[in-house]
Amino acid sequence: MKVLVVGGAGYIGSHCVRQLIAAGHEPVVLDNLVYGHRGALTPEVPFYEGDLGDKTFVRSVLDGESIELVMHFAAYCYVGESVTAPFKYYENNVVATLRLLETMHEAGVSKFVFSSTCATYGVPESLPMTEDLPQAPINPYGQTKLDVENILKALSHAHGLSFAAFRYFNAAGASVDGVIGEDHKPETHLIPLIVDAAVGKRANIKIFGTDYDTPDGTCLRDYVHVDDLSRAHIAVFDKLDKPGQSFFYNLGTGTPNSVREVISAVERITGKTVPVIEDERRPGDPPALFADSTKAKTELGWTVEFDTIDKIVESAWRWHSSHPNGYGD
Ligand code: UFG
Repeated sequence: MKVLVVGGAGYIGSHCVRQLIAAGHEPVVLDNLVYGHRGALTPEVPFYEGDLGDKTFVRSVLDGESIELVMHFAAYCYVGESVTAPFKYYENNVVATLRLLETMHEAGVSKFVFSSTCATYGVPESLPMTEDLPQAPINPYGQTKLDVENILKALSHAHGLSFAAFRYFNAAGASVDGVIGEDHKPETHLIPLIVDAAVGKRANIKIFGTDYDTPDGTCLRDYVHVDDLSRAHIAVFDKLDKPGQSFFYNLGTGTPNSVREVISAVERITGKTVPVIEDERRPGDPPALFADSTKAKTELGWTVEFDTIDKIVESAWRWHSSHPNGYGD
């Protein structure tokens, strides 16, 4: 299938492009390169540089490439920044996404795969987290993702859009060949920061809170490999053939790891000691978030290949050790 990957030069989008090729599909990438990287592009894949909210531009790509399905990864994703700069987040994550959906509607493209987040649940009522838990985001980032989920429901009902929204837990890792990986500027995610501390690019890793009601006092998260995430996005394609279909799936391994466990994994894999500072809690961090992904497993036949934190960190280390400056752009 001819698939437009919006945000295909970003972290998750670029991994999805390679998984699409492996599955025999024909990806086309659209990215404005604000956070994406030219170096993350797969050379043989057509690339269009521009904005998802630019209707004329997007329409020309949809028509010119005879796109059948759109995948959307081009959101701003810093939770902290979303609190201080809500205009920026609502503008890109909601307003520009609405323009993209409007353009798709006008062009007669009716299949959509959306990158959502477990941040739409806020502090969960119960663990592990199933799709039917109440959604009550505690920051604008999570709210923008929930807003788009609601827009998608309305469009599905009114116009027959068929879509799947995947609520990711903590996306992590890199391609097994070490060619593409995680390169955020600024970097705020735990695994890349610990790797930087291991190799001396930063002085230490701060553990945000050691007094949580968890086995070792640090936060529990569900780290899930980007290639595992990507394969779920492709496995849903067949279900989108009928108009007006809507699907929501939580994607995580179901096995949480504490911050201390992730630090130990990086030390094991890299063979280096990570200097640690025990710091205050970071505002807005729920103590534990982990998925029940039974629905994705049952309905999509989804399997988790990277089922231990060591396998995830190993792939991340292959990328970071071979690209000490990321994509270098
Ligand atoms: N952490 C530290 N020190 C650091 C960085 C992080 O202790 O220097 C801790 C955090 O407190 C948290 C865990 O490591 O407990 C993971 O933190 P990340 O910032 O890597 O990830 P988050 O769980 O905060 O957020 C991620 C994505 C969001 C997404 C969210 C869903 O970055 O986009 O998962 O839960 F919304």
